[in-house]
This record gives sequence, structure tokens and C-alpha cells, in this order.
Amino acid sequence: MKEKVFIFVALPYANGPLHLGHIAGAYLPYDAFRRFMILTGREVVSASGSDEHGTPITIKAMQEGISPKEIATKFHNVNSDIFKRMNIEFNAFIETSSDLHKMVVKDFITKLIDKGYIYEGNMIQPFCPHDNMFLPDRYVKGKCPKCGYENARGDQCENCGATLEPSELINPVCILDGYTPEFRETKHLFFKLSSFQEDMEKFISERKYWRDNVLKYSRNFISQGLKDRPITRDLDWGVDIPFPGYERKKIYVWFEALIGYITGTVQALNDYNGALEHWKDKKIRHYYFMGKDNIPFHSIIWPAMLMAEGEYTLPYYVAANEYLNFQGEKFSKSGGVGISMPKLLESYNSEYIRFGVFYNLPEGHDSDFSLEEFQNKVNSELIDKFGNFVNRALILSFKKGKINRDQIAQSQRDTEAEKFMRDSLKSIINNMENVNIREAFKVWLELARYSNIYITERKPWEACKKDDANCLASIYTSMKIVFTLAVSGQIFLPETSRKLLSWLGYNEPVMLHEDLDYPVAHVLQKPEKLFEKIMSKSLNVSLKVARVMDVMDHPNAEKLYLLDLDLGEEKRRIISGIKDSYTRDALVNKKIVIVSNLKPAVIRGEKSNGMLLAAEEDGKVHLVLAPEEAIPGSEIKIGDYNIINEEISIEEFKRHEIVTYEKDGDIIPALHENNSFIPLTINGKNLTIDGKVSKGIRIK
Ligand code: 2FM
Ligand code: ZN
Repeated sequence: MKEKVFIFVALPYANGPLHLGHIAGAYLPYDAFRRFMILTGREVVSASGSDEHGTPITIKAMQEGISPKEIATKFHNVNSDIFKRMNIEFNAFIETSSDLHKMVVKDFITKLIDKGYIYEGNMIQPFCPHDNMFLPDRYVKGKCPKCGYENARGDQCENCGATLEPSELINPVCILDGYTPEFRETKHLFFKLSSFQEDMEKFISERKYWRDNVLKYSRNFISQGLKDRPITRDLDWGVDIPFPGYERKKIYVWFEALIGYITGTVQALNDYNGALEHWKDKKIRHYYFMGKDNIPFHSIIWPAMLMAEGEYTLPYYVAANEYLNFQGEKFSKSGGVGISMPKLLESYNSEYIRFGVFYNLPEGHDSDFSLEEFQNKVNSELIDKFGNFVNRALILSFKKGKINRDQIAQSQRDTEAEKFMRDSLKSIINNMENVNIREAFKVWLELARYSNIYITERKPWEACKKDDANCLASIYTSMKIVFTLAVSGQIFLPETSRKLLSWLGYNEPVMLHEDLDYPVAHVLQKPEKLFEKIMSKSLNVSLKVARVMDVMDHPNAEKLYLLDLDLGEEKRRIISGIKDSYTRDALVNKKIVIVSNLKPAVIRGEKSNGMLLAAEEDGKVHLVLAPEEAIPGSEIKIGDYNIINEEISIEEFKRHEIVTYEKDGDIIPALHENNSFIPLTINGKNLTIDGKVSKGIRIK
């Protein structure tokens, strides 16, 4: 009988599109592990879903002026689409606002109430006198008592990861209006986490095989003494509380989202009682994947909830990854750092993104992602090593036709290569089994590098000209390695491997084991190119043509204008300090150029949504202008750069040097990079600079 396993991955909040940090931190490692489990013959039930309740959703809804349900549905769809395009698969991807989930939660909590693990108590909760309401944790911000970070949320500090209570914050304020909240007493339900102190110590001590980061964090958490936790909130968006007197409160989002793992199995198996029976089956191992900020919820709180329930299986493995940083900074949607998945998928094939992430997996320690390195590695490792090796082997195999094992005599170099291949395969399997995904991928890639060297040294193409024995032997050996790379590659690069295996005559997934056999080395069809190199480099600077519609004085700053701009479909306002150089009349109707993807800023009380481009010389400002006929809103081209239009900070913009440059006697704006100048153009025409300026002046 097949071994059954459950594999879960943290339910992402449905309050924004996932970014690469999420994908690298949880979903892609999960997907590799799930594929590995299936390919090694396990019967897998996997689940995740959209975490649709709680303040992350209500705050976003408030910002966008739509209902929490609309926000949740919107991002449930956006994120489901991202998973689909990334080939990240689940047996169930639930929504926590579904009736099914609410039912599962109600049953679970009722059981905990019946067993006496949930009790009513009083709690001091922030109350905003101005809004006349109790504030959920995330509606309060302040200084972190643990690390001093100024913008810590009332539930957790994003900087040091500490879980917090709003009352612990230094100088707390209400996020709705900036008022200092009062702390008043109110009734809530509490989960008796404290009664699991000993059980939890035992639980963690039995899991010595977990990663260091998870063990360290969990031991530390437990050693501070487990305290009872409130599990209800003053919020009107969430799961109802099956307890009289709580009609105006909801269950705390974390407490119900975790139960989503059960909902996921019910949905996957389409059988409520059947799924619960599986939860009681202690032979089924449960694996959980998540980013490191989710550790305590999965290694302590959820196991304790399961202990309280009494019958269900505890986590076998909690795999938490570290953070993937973006060009040195932490990925953050709100801070405008990083690239969202929809944007990335517009520019790159999902197999390349998967490769880039596995290459840089933040497992064991944080890692850094930059677009430049990503493109380099795809080109130089995936394509030049793996792609090149596979391509050479396939072309030779196609020319020579079927080669049987008994037709050839391998040289020592061939058997050496074959041994390297076998050892690599063993190591990939071993590492995957122990959830060392980063290491498994490294071994896979090392095998590709090695094979590329092997085939370069063996030169079958020369041996084949002379038609000596080395010809067939080295092709045979190479094809064995191609097969091994394709089969083990199914874990990481599913599309590439599927294509490759189909060329070799396998139209179904090939199961993975140490003694992979490939008796006849043979490609069935004329091999196509596996990959196209990434040619154009990407640049996250979006410059657009804007027509000045109106110019007003800034009410609070003498030297500043407010410019109302026409960008075609969109109208915008920016603030600019060009008053000394341009009168209002000189500006109206000019076609200027703005940085359109700058994070909006508030300057002296007025919002500025972008920044115009100009060069300053001897105190006079010279605007960058688009040609007369340019259509407002159109994007400026910068050489053959692929423009990514993702919000950036001013600091990030300033890393790119745009200067005045002399070309054919004209002074034009150009991007200065790697000692060359790339003119900014639109419809093949250069942009111009208003008035007379020297060359080499920084445009900002
Ligand atoms: O950090 C997050 O995105 C949470 N929504 C994770 C929840 S995991 C579990 F509760 F399902
Ligand atoms: Zn902190």
C-alpha cells in the first residue's frame, strides 16, 4: 500500500498579490517537496488557501474603499492565477470565508469548548475614544519593546518577528486617526495554551530532526512559559463564535486559519468524515511549509490546538524558510521594495523564475535576489550548462539512433561519469527526503555542470568522425545523464522535464528512485531548442509622457508648484520645485517626462504622484521634453531594456544615472551604464532638453 502524506503550506492573506519573497519562502519549496513525494510513490494530500479574514483584509479593504469580501475574492483569484502560472499545485486551495471552512472551524472550536480548553475571561484591549470602538491588534502601531523598531504592529513586529500585544507597544497609536488609545477591559475567549507546557516541551524534544531555525525559535518560545491566548477579536469580519454573548465579535484570524489545514483535506478528499479519520491516522506524516514569521503558529500554537482536540495527528515536520531579500532590501509590498509575481510573470517564463528561486533558496539563511544576477544565472547556468549539455547529447543521439547497452564498452571516463550521476541522484533523493531542498537543487545543478564538462572533454562529435568505440560509449553515457537530469528535474522544473522526457519517449511522469534504469539511450525526435536566452535586461524605471494641464502654487511651500498632468487614461498630480525657471504659462501644455512608478510621497502636506525629469545647470532648470506628437501616457523606451513598472523608492530611482549626452551635435537625455550611453526615445525619436545645457549633467 502506498504511504500517505499530508503536505500543507501557510495560507497567504488575500490582501495583495504574492511577491517573489513569498514564492521563495514557502510555495516553491513546498511544490518541489510535493512533486518529490509523488514521484517517490507517496499518496499526497496537499492543501493551502486564501486567508481571507482578519485585519490584514479589513485594512486593505478600507484603503481601497471596497468590502473585505471583495478584496478577498479579488486576491484569491489573483493568487490562484499566480500559482497556476508558476505550476505550483495543490489538491485543495480553500477560501477561509467559505461555508465549508466555517463549519469545520465551528466543530473544532466547539470540541475545545466542550473539553474545557476555552474559557471566558477579561482582557485589557485598546479602545479608541475618537472612533468609539475597541481596536483589533493591527489597528494599533507603535515602537517594538523588543527591538525598538518604530513601526511595529500591535500583533507582531515585522522587524524582529516578535509576537506582541498592543499594550506592549511603546507610544501606541490608532491607525485610523492617530489617536492614542485607552486601554479598557472587555470580555474575550481564551485558549488554555498554558496547560500544554510539558506536552509541548516533549513534543519539541522529540523533533530533533527539525531545522535549527525552527527548533531555536520554538525552544525559546516555550522556555518563556506558555501563556493563555485570547482567540476572539472586536471585528465584524471573520468566523462567528459559537458561544452566547459573542455576537459582535469574531474568532481571531490565526486561530481559525490554522484550522484551514483540516478544511483543506476535507475539500481535497471531498469527504468530511473521511478526512477527519485521516487526521486521526498517526501513520500519516504531516509536513508544513512557511516563511519564518509563521514559525510559532505552526510549531507551538497549532500543535497545542491539536493536542487540545485530542485525536488528530501532530506536525511531523515544520519547514520554515528565511527571507529572500530584493537587491539588498527586504521584500515589502507596503514599502515598495521588490517585484510582484504578476509583473515578474509578464517578463519571464515560469521555468526561469523557478530556476532563479531554487538557485537562491533562502533555506538556512536569508538570500538575496537581483534581476541582474537572476538573468545572468539563467543564461550562464541553466542555458549554457544544462541546456548546452542536453542539446549536444540529444543531437548526437538523434544522429546515431538507438544505442543498446550491449553495443558499447564504456571507458574509465564514462564509468566515472556514470558513478557521479548515480551519486548525485542518491544525494538528490536523500536531501529531498530530509527536506533539504536547497542542497538537493545544488546537487542537480552540479550534475548538469559536471556533464557539460564531461561531454566537452569526451568530444563524441570527434570520436564519431573517426567512428571509434568512444563515439557510442560517450553518447550512451551522456544520454543516461540526460535521462537522470530529466527525471530528477521533474521536482524543480516540471515543464522542461516534461518536454525532455517526451522527446525520450516518456509521456507520463517517470518515477524517481536510486536505481533508475534507462536501457536504451535514444531520442525519438529531432531535438528542439529547450530554452531561449534572456536577451533584454530589465529595468524597473517607468518613464512616461505627461501633458501639463494646469499649474498651481503649493499652498504651504513658496518654491513649489502643483502640476496637474494628463497621462492619457490617467490624471495625476505631482509637486515640483521649478518655480524659479518656469512660469505657469510656459508650462501649460508642455509634454514633459515623468518617473511614473515612484512611490507617492507627501510633500508639505500635498501628495505627489511621480517626479518630472529635468537637468539643472547654474541654478536654472531645463525640462526633459517629449516630441510634440507624443501621446500622453506613452512609455519612453530605454534601449532594448525590458521596462518593469513596479513601484520604486526615490533612492532606487537614483541608482540609475540619467544624464545629458551629446549625440550628433544635439544634447539629449540618456541612461549612463557600464560606460555606455543609452538614449531615451519614443517612437524612434530622441527626447530633447529644453534650452541650452552642457553635456554630462545629471538628470533628476
Ligand atoms: O502570514 C500569513 O500570510 C498568514 N495568513 C499565514 C496563515 S497560515 C495558517 F494559519 F493557515
Ligand atoms: Zn521588534
